Amino acid sequence: MEEEEQLGCKFSQTSLTDLTMFENDFFDLIVSNIVLVDIQDYQKAFLEINRVLKKDGRFIWSNSHPTFGRLGSMDLRLPFDASRNEENLYKIIDRYFDSGGTLVSWGKVQPLWQFDRTLSEYSHALKEAGFAIREIIEPKPDLELIRKNPRFLAFDADRYPHFIIFDCIKLE
Ligand SMILES: C[S@@+](CC[C@H](N)C(=O)[O-])C[C@H]1O[C@@H](n2cnc3c(N)ncnc32)[C@H](O)[C@@H]1O
Repeated sequence: MEEEEQLGCKFSQTSLTDLTMFENDFFDLIVSNIVLVDIQDYQKAFLEINRVLKKDGRFIWSNSHPTFGRLGSMDLRLPFDASRNEENLYKIIDRYFDSGGTLVSWGKVQPLWQFDRTLSEYSHALKEAGFAIREIIEPKPDLELIRKNPRFLAFDADRYPHFIIFDCIKLE
């Protein structure tokens, strides 16, 4: 933390869809962790991020996976009364092309909008905003992590990606 170890970091708070507090070509690198899924006007966010990045600047961002992390996907266990989690767990994906927002509640947190989009919608919006995708990463937990968090990670996290990481570069 900056308070404990002074590195000269500055902190600002604003919406990704309105970065007017920053001038053009300002940052070398922008990193975002699972935020675009919360943002309705993601095209505007990409345009703003592109504007404040320097040419060849990098935008590295993670999100819920467009296929496996979407709300429309469903876990199915067969037989339904299987006593072990790992028995015949299937992921059902349907209505992949139905993009849009859903109001969701996570525990005690106030309900939040989650916006699901297809991979090609994200790819298209990135291109329109002036980015090229350098790499797409679908993280997979290693065996050591699964061993440390078996309830959370075993049986599905190593079978399909819950999250996706885009490594993008500003072209012009
Ligand atoms: C799933 S949480 C991720 C939080 C954090 N990045 C992390 O990894 O734990 C999504 C975050 O996006 C933020 N958010 C929602 N709309 C936003 C916007 N328009 N601009 C910036 N952040 C936004 C929410 O406040 C929330 O903290």
